[in-house]
Amino acid sequence: MTATKIDTSHPPVDVEPFRPKVPVPRPTPPNNFVHLRTLQVLPKLLSNPLEALSADAFTMPITYSAIFSNPIALVHEPAAIKYLFVERPDLLRADPVRQAVLKPPLREGLLTAEGATWRRSRKLIAPVFAPRHIDSFAIAMRERTEHYVATLHHRTDNTLLIADEMAALAYSVLSQTLFTGDLDDESEQVLADVAFFLKHLSQPDPLDFLNMSDRWPRLTKLRGQKALRRLRQGVRRTAQNRKQRIDQGAEVPDDFLTLLLNTTGDDDRGLSLDEVEDNIITFIAAGHETTARALAWTLYLLANDEDARQRCEAEIDALKTDDLDPHLWGDHLPFTTACFEESMRLFPPASMIGRQAVEDVDHNGLVINKDATVLVSPWALHRHETLWDDPAAFKPLRFLGEARKSIDRFAYLPFGMGQRVCIGQRFAMQEAQIALAILLRNFRFDYAGAEPPWPVMKITIQPHNAMPMKVTART
Ligand code: HEM
Repeated sequence: MTATKIDTSHPPVDVEPFRPKVPVPRPTPPNNFVHLRTLQVLPKLLSNPLEALSADAFTMPITYSAIFSNPIALVHEPAAIKYLFVERPDLLRADPVRQAVLKPPLREGLLTAEGATWRRSRKLIAPVFAPRHIDSFAIAMRERTEHYVATLHHRTDNTLLIADEMAALAYSVLSQTLFTGDLDDESEQVLADVAFFLKHLSQPDPLDFLNMSDRWPRLTKLRGQKALRRLRQGVRRTAQNRKQRIDQGAEVPDDFLTLLLNTTGDDDRGLSLDEVEDNIITFIAAGHETTARALAWTLYLLANDEDARQRCEAEIDALKTDDLDPHLWGDHLPFTTACFEESMRLFPPASMIGRQAVEDVDHNGLVINKDATVLVSPWALHRHETLWDDPAAFKPLRFLGEARKSIDRFAYLPFGMGQRVCIGQRFAMQEAQIALAILLRNFRFDYAGAEPPWPVMKITIQPHNAMPMKVTART
């Protein structure tokens, strides 16, 4: 492959880089009066945790605080993150608040399984995400995006809510690669159910922060239950039908569902039907809204940086899409890929990674008591003043050439780290490269909101107004 020449002069010298509007960190509060501080911060934690972060999260390597009497260590020192998540993952277990939120809907799926169940599942599922499988999904990614673009050509007269549009596109790609559209006759209902269940089940309830047992009903979550039940039934029906066809020796598509049903472990046991169902629901929850948010923020950033947009367009226009398998497109789109990576630095879809310490930790100045919550916030880490130059600015060139090599592996964590690093990372990057290539070749996206989109953390980082944009055909 001929290396694509990298232009190192963005933005032009006389142009200020774009700095999106985001919450200003709260002044660092004094460490006494823990309960008072908790009461001040709790409404923000429930409505938008990004607004609860205080200034020291963006300047200090480690910040110690508490919610009620639950101590919290916010760790933003790359070496300490590496120690905890790579060298000593045995010191950590899943964060109980996150488990209270996600375990009921996702059960024993990979994201929420723990201990031996997680280890067995991860080993069985890792080969499903092998590069050759992800490469083979590129055709479906291209086909679904082209189909979406064809429908978009008829709707360009209206301002479109791009966050919702990208969610529909990412779900369409995922459903095609998960079960080859076997749920598609119900797809609108499925998408509505997925959106509904993510909205109502994925937010912490005040009781979650108090570590109240599951016997206390979370009224905030009841509304999502019906949608989740319907979604589970659809997934189960599809999985059962597929299993029957596999058992009968019928021809079946090479999608995630077939791959999951065909897993076999050392003991000749694969995933059970329940585990396949839990993981399909998990992939839907973890694998489409994340990518969709990253795409929407990328389009927003490009809409505010004319030079970067033109560079992406030039790169994409030069791509010989008909001669090149779509899994290889990304190799020819270094600047576009850098824009996507820079977008995930500024707006990391998964903006909080939480664990609980299972024993006391005392290592190189890192002191954490047993049972304390350990948090890494990619949002704050990616804007940390000691780790990034001009952290608030959109500067995609950080992710190219020598500059890219100088980024500490543990300073940029959109996909997490250590043994629980995102299993869908390659899938998401490939999907984004293909989607951006097709979208930006066909359209210009211009922001059309009355005020800038305000980032709100509801599991993923969402724009408060779903990102209204004017979409204009380029040809
Ligand atoms: C831009 C898109 C994505 C982002 C930013 C993202 C981010 C993350 C992060 C940060 C984690 C680690 C969470 C933790 O340690 O607590 C994670 C885990 C996970 N992700 Fe992704 N993800 C993306 C796309 C996907 C896709 C497309 C899939 C599946 C098709 C997926 C499936 C998963 C699963 C199953 C886990 C749990 C892994 C484990 O615990 O073993 N993700 N993701």
